[in-house]
Amino acid sequence: MYIDKEEIFNHINTRPFRIISEAADELGVEAYVIGGYVRDIFLHRPSKDIDVVAVGSGIELAKTVAKKFGKYTHLAVYKNFGTAQVKSGEIEIEFVGARKESYHRDSRKPVVEDGTLEDDQNRRDFTINALALCLNKNRYGELVDPFDGLEDMENLTIRTPLDPDITFSDDPLRMMRAIRFATQLGFFIDPETFDAIVRNKERIHIISQERIADELNKIILSPKPSIGFELLDKTGLLSIIFPELTALKGVETKEGIGHKDNFAHTLMVLDRLSKDTGNLWLRWSAVFHDIAKPATKRWDNRLGWTFHNHNFIGERMIPKIFKRMKFPMNEKMKYVQKMVNLHMRPIALADDEVTDSAVRRLLFDAGDDIDDLMLLCEADITSKNPEKVRRFLNNFRLVREKLAIIEEKDRVRNFQPPVSGEEIMKTFALPPSQPVGVIKEAIKNAILDGVIPNEYEAAYEFMLKKAAEMGLTPVKPIC
Ligand code: CTP
Repeated sequence: MYIDKEEIFNHINTRPFRIISEAADELGVEAYVIGGYVRDIFLHRPSKDIDVVAVGSGIELAKTVAKKFGKYTHLAVYKNFGTAQVKSGEIEIEFVGARKESYHRDSRKPVVEDGTLEDDQNRRDFTINALALCLNKNRYGELVDPFDGLEDMENLTIRTPLDPDITFSDDPLRMMRAIRFATQLGFFIDPETFDAIVRNKERIHIISQERIADELNKIILSPKPSIGFELLDKTGLLSIIFPELTALKGVETKEGIGHKDNFAHTLMVLDRLSKDTGNLWLRWSAVFHDIAKPATKRWDNRLGWTFHNHNFIGERMIPKIFKRMKFPMNEKMKYVQKMVNLHMRPIALADDEVTDSAVRRLLFDAGDDIDDLMLLCEADITSKNPEKVRRFLNNFRLVREKLAIIEEKDRVRNFQPPVSGEEIMKTFALPPSQPVGVIKEAIKNAILDGVIPNEYEAAYEFMLKKAAEMGLTPVKPIC
């Protein structure tokens, strides 16, 4: 974490910052780079958008900077917000005047007044996000850190600059942001800050679902997403924003037989999968894979606890949850549904004998998502019994080998039946009708079961045979 003055200086010793410095001195205002950009310098993370605070008019400063940047510079002024943005090539800089804000209890719309740098730092979310570096020439690179943000960074602590009840009440999304930063950075939430989240959790209701979803996605994309879900759960936020997930918690025991805690299991699967993929929607599939376990849980005197069809019911639960969470209701959702639907198949397959036909059917159903599905299924093996794990993983290896061989031989991924419905209708002079579907399905099954190869000639012969069984004869083509 340690970073010396020279390193900081080098970070901001670039043309854009030099121009801001010049412009600020000309206008006689103090200017500071602040927030995430400064935090990320200290964390050695790539810094993105630059936020600049002027003690004075941010808009005037932005205008002067834009002029100095010269050609191909875009200036956007948001008068109502008192902010402006300067874009030049890859660089994006937001300008704002230092502000003092106070909020009404039921709204996120603040009453804004001009303020000092300290006022501005006061109203920020966390001490690590309140660090400011001065850009004026005589104080170039001077760090202004009134809340010991640097120390918090060294101690890996997320803490609010003010009384956390005030900071969270001003913008309740910050409760999610605290958890998100803790997850992304591997930081701890200061106990007072944590307790305030617990106290203020109900205020999350005034936040738009889109912003909540955005934070959830950032948590999911973190190196170890379970940290975030555990914190959301412990603070009580999870049961408000995602009750279906907290419903997975707990173990019931009957006649000495318990089932696993499906919440803990889901998080374990999510973390394991996250080591292998950065695919957001595959990671979400891990979160959703057992979502229907509470709804399908039954006690069977012979079998113990069962969760029959939890994959199919889970697939059906997804649209309602996606809609509420304002997640995309498009092919991304369909992908998650497909993963949830199919997540038992490779295990069932590896449990039985791994036949060519079963592998072909799996390939047919999963299509191009087969590799993602296999990753999910491997992550899903969380048994504590090493013998069981070894057996499963070994069988999975077999499934993967067979998948590769069959894919090479039969090309069933993205399978299109070699004889189309059109051709069936033409051959037997049929209108679009049930027999066409029956013949088409029979051809598909014959290929998937390995009765015939995935080739036109064989499929055509098979079609004639099947049609004959149904009492259909081909019409002679009219020449
Ligand atoms: N900020 C805040 N309260 C919020 C959002 C933002 O106080 N609810 C302040 C913080 O000082 C933050 C800065 O605005 O550093 C910029 O916000 P943003 O760009 O959203 O976040 P970053 O901290 O840059 O991090 P990330 O881009 O990962 O969200």
